Amino acid sequence: MDKIVVKGGNSLSGELEVSSAKNSYLPILAGAILCSGEVILHKYPKYDDVLNMIGILENLGGKSKVQGSSLILDMTCLNGFEIPSNLASLTRSSIFSLGSILGRFKYAKVAYPGGCEIGARPIDLHIKGLEALNVKVIDRRGYLTCDGRNMRGGDVHLDFPSVGATENVMMAGVLTKGRTRIFNAAKEPEIVDLQNFLNKAGAKIRGAGTTTIVIDGVEKLGSVEYTPISDRIITGTYIIATSMCGGDVTLTNTRPDHLQALISKLDNSCCKIKVKGDRIRVISSGRHKSINKIETMPYPGFPTDLQPQIMALEAISNGTSVIVENLFETRFKHVSELVKMGAQILTEGRSAVIKGVEKLYGAEVAATDLRGGAGLVLAGLVADGYTVVSNIGQIKRGYESIETDLKKLGADIRKVEFL
Ligand code: UD1
Repeated sequence: MDKIVVKGGNSLSGELEVSSAKNSYLPILAGAILCSGEVILHKYPKYDDVLNMIGILENLGGKSKVQGSSLILDMTCLNGFEIPSNLASLTRSSIFSLGSILGRFKYAKVAYPGGCEIGARPIDLHIKGLEALNVKVIDRRGYLTCDGRNMRGGDVHLDFPSVGATENVMMAGVLTKGRTRIFNAAKEPEIVDLQNFLNKAGAKIRGAGTTTIVIDGVEKLGSVEYTPISDRIITGTYIIATSMCGGDVTLTNTRPDHLQALISKLDNSCCKIKVKGDRIRVISSGRHKSINKIETMPYPGFPTDLQPQIMALEAISNGTSVIVENLFETRFKHVSELVKMGAQILTEGRSAVIKGVEKLYGAEVAATDLRGGAGLVLAGLVADGYTVVSNIGQIKRGYESIETDLKKLGADIRKVEFL
């Protein structure tokens, strides 16, 4: 029953190190299933989704321990090929473990995945991709049962560049005889990271980051030590927060090259952004003119995972703006919560029109999903009085402690236990 309580009005300043990318760590943990050895992952972030994924690996027979800031997995004795519904419902990453379990055991049984409720989130592309590798998929009673005894490399044409489907098929191809090619692949940086991790363990993959990925099957993956990339969505969240609150914040351990869609929208119009190596410095005087239009797109377009946060910014901007959500059809659940805080937002289908107001006011709101929850916290930072955000378990899925980070930067924010 924990809630986050924010008193709005403080500007932000100081320095903050950004942690590893959730959306890299999760597929890399799924990729660890392919490794018959020790997997050492540095900069281990304790997001709830990552903890749940480690639970899935342990249920398959893997062993894990934490040493300093590294996660050490022993994947030699894996003996399971099933992810039951009580574990699969905790994180969406269970679905892209299908490819790696199949690769290792040529058989997999995985319950339907959980994750953010931001749309229908079908898995047809995952299934079509695996079928192209000659996997027999049976979809019955909430479980996908996959028989990969006759698996071989093949060509997969994705109708849409789905991140999860690209990762799933990539992993399925690693230990499969022959060449697998993925056309219209997703180009997200986390897919490049997965390729780099798997190649370091002995896989032969090229092309990640482009629309065509080629995987040449190998016999075995061994031990590997790897440091996943930093989280571009957390970085973006704090860039937007500083832009809204005003102040001078430097974020370290970032990948500015992964955030060009956001930086190009904000720099010089909402704030000043200075980039040096892995450091991003944001200098802002607070409220500014609104950005006319933002459309979420697959990478390198504007990330859907920053849509609620940029909406919070637009809610207090000077002028009117339009946000079009192209990825997920019901990813506007945070709108009704922002409206409780005085935001003027109208939605119609996949579009939202936001008329910026001078002030939001504190209210009791609920995190509807992970990024929606982050957007509400940001709104609370600039609202008059106290905002109480409930259902913060959603936020903990992808931020180790958003309240500790923002407090470090000068926000009046804390977690409170409510009975
Ligand atoms: C990943 C990210 C998520 C991000 C999303 C889009 C992880 C753990 N999650 O999610 O944070 O919001 O990418 O950048 O990396 N689709 C289908 N059929 C399928 C699969 C997807 O129609 O089989 C559609 C979806 O409904 C959606 C679009 O493709 O409209 C994008 O989804 P996808 O890229 O697969 O997102 P995820 O991998 O679930």
